This record gives sequence, structure tokens and C-alpha cells, in this order.
Amino acid sequence: MRYILTSLLFSGLLCFPLANAWASSDAPLADIDFDRSSESIKRGAYAAKNTCMICHNLKYIKYLNLLEIDFTQSEVDTFRGKAAFDSPIKSSTSPEVAQKLFGMVPPDLSLMAKARRGGARYIYTLLTSYQVNNEGVVENHLFPGIKMPDPLTYAYRTDEARQKELKQTIQDVAVFLEWAADPRAGERRHLGMYVIGYLIVLTFLFYLLKRKIWSRLD
Ligand code: HEC
Repeated sequence: MRYILTSLLFSGLLCFPLANAWASSDAPLADIDFDRSSESIKRGAYAAKNTCMICHNLKYIKYLNLLEIDFTQSEVDTFRGKAAFDSPIKSSTSPEVAQKLFGMVPPDLSLMAKARRGGARYIYTLLTSYQVNNEGVVENHLFPGIKMPDPLTYAYRTDEARQKELKQTIQDVAVFLEWAADPRAGERRHLGMYVIGYLIVLTFLFYLLKRKIWSRLD
């Protein structure tokens, strides 16, 4: 019994660093500690609406879902404008126009943070890798050939203070898109803590029970 418990504990402890090493291998993604507060997610929603949603859809997120990230009803109403309360957040550019402008329809961003390894870090890295090259042309040095023009004009923010400000906005957008890709994640984590606590108590009770039963055989 003792051996089984010890090996289970050790395999659990080993899995964690292994999973982390695997997730962070082999890519020059920005190493950043995101502020995942609801204020940041909310700011990200506004920034995404004003820039990203010009071209991208968020088809799995409805305006009403914004209530889950501390929007008030009247904030949602202002945010959605004429769009219906229960409609998905849609781009203001039609797919036909986007196709003409970029040669493709920009991908939906609802699940982007799940679809790309690194999630929020990937989005942050992508948006902060635009720069003006030697010929004076804006390019993305980590993702050359990408058809998305520098959406936040990051390449031109050479001034340190303004670049810092923009980096904060990009972090906000990244954590908002991370929330959008898995709106129930916070709830699950919360519930997970209770489940783990419950299992620890249960294990202890079973241990006491086992001792009681075996004491009769000693
Ligand atoms: C002017 C239109 C436009 C705007 C504004 C825009 N995008 Fe894009 N985006 C595109 C296009 C076009 C693509 C497809 C690029 C490609 O596959 O080459 C794209 C692709 C992407 C991708 C996928 C990259 C990949 O790995 O395939 C992400 C992530 C992304 N955009 C995030 C954003 C975010 C976040 C914002 C807002 C800050 C934003 N975009 C604003 C046009 C836009």
C-alpha cells in the first residue's frame, strides 16, 4: 500500500515539470508573466473590439458572454451597438472585402489561443514582432510573409514609453483571447481546488479506515 501511494505521488510530481518543458520547447515565444485580472481581460475586450474585430470574427463568443468578464449590462449595450445581445461578435469587414484586401479571409479568433502552441504568449509574440526593415517596409520578423498588416502599428512605436503602453494593450488582448478560447477555465480551476481538497480528506479517511480494519488482523 505504502509503495503504491509513494509511486503515485512521485509520478504526479514528475508529470508537472515534464508537461511544462514540453509546452515551452523550441520556439522564441516571449517569456512573459501575464496579468490575468478581470480588469486586464476587460481592457483586452475593448482593444480587440477596436482593432482586431475590424478584420476578425469571434464566432463562439456572444455579446452576452461579456457579462461573465465583469461588463455591466449597459457596458455590453454600448459595446454591441446595433448588434443583437445574443449574437456572436462579428468582424466589421465582410469576408468578400477581406478576401480582396488580404487574398484570404482572416481566421476566426475564438479558439486561436488554443489552436497555437503557447496560447496568449503566441499572440503576444506575433503582435510584438513587427518592425520596419532596412528598406523601410514593415514586416514581421518572426512570422515573415504573414498577410496580417501590423494591426496596432507596433513597428512605429519606437518611443520607449509609448511602446510600453502598447505592450500592455497587447497583453490585455492576449489574455482576453485566452479567456475567449476557454471561458469556463476559471470556474473549472476553482472547482478543481475543491475536488482536490475533497480527495485529500477522502484519502485520509480511507487511510484511517484501513488502519482500523487491519488492526484487527495484527
Ligand atoms: C486589417 C485586418 C486585420 C486586423 C485589424 C487584425 N488582423 Fe489578425 N489577421 C489578419 C489576416 C489577413 C490574417 C491571416 C494571416 C495569414 O495567415 O497570413 C490574420 C491572422 C491572425 C492570427 C493567426 C496567425 C497564425 O498563426 O496563423 C492571429 C493570432 C491574429 N491575426 C490576431 C490578431 C489580433 C490579436 C488582432 C488585433 C490586435 C488582429 N489580428 C488584427 C488580418 C487582421
